[in-house]
Amino acid sequence: MLMFISTLTGAQNDIINKYSYEIKTKSYNLSEYHRALYIIARILKPEIVIETGVFEGHSSLALLLALKENNKGHLHSIDLPSPKLPPGKESGWIVPEHLRKRWDLRLGKSSDLLPDLLKEVREVDIFLHDSEHSYENMHWEYKTAWRYIRKGGLLLRVMILARTMHSETLQNTFQRTNITC
Ligand SMILES: C[S@@+](CC[C@H](N)C(=O)[O-])C[C@H]1O[C@@H](n2cnc3c(N)ncnc32)[C@H](O)[C@@H]1O
Repeated sequence: MLMFISTLTGAQNDIINKYSYEIKTKSYNLSEYHRALYIIARILKPEIVIETGVFEGHSSLALLLALKENNKGHLHSIDLPSPKLPPGKESGWIVPEHLRKRWDLRLGKSSDLLPDLLKEVREVDIFLHDSEHSYENMHWEYKTAWRYIRKGGLLLRVMILARTMHSETLQNTFQRTNITC
């Protein structure tokens, strides 16, 4: 993970280790993937983060914890509520109230909500896809979000450690060099 984050962000190992330690000391039991999101957001200090796919809210939680520590930035999340949510729970239910000040959660399909959201925010520092993983939806989200991602920004997909799966699609679609998938 260390090397991956270093390659992605250009950060030195000591900085990555510092943020890795920081998130481990917080009393949230996040997976390695979610801790990686935290570390990336701590390093890049984004102003605008968009994620598609929230479910219970672990990725939102990791990102919001980082934005709180950064004391800057907003997370805009889109989620079509899943029937697999625990009974009586809503999308993002695990995110505590005190972290919600920097959070804009919109419920519905990304294909319905993402275009207007992108127009509103105008520029995105980090875009994270984790909604419906069909080829069509991923391709559509990448293509739609791409021109709003600022130079040097990131486009991430879930399980960013598995980088190659859709690289061919992306290479065929995008020419900018700093894309990761
Ligand atoms: C894998 S879960 C997200 C997990 C979350 N990112 C995390 O790391 O904890 C995918 C979520 O996307 C939602 N979803 C599925 N299709 C969608 C769509 N077309 N637009 C927006 N959300 C969608 C699902 O209902 C589910 O809540």
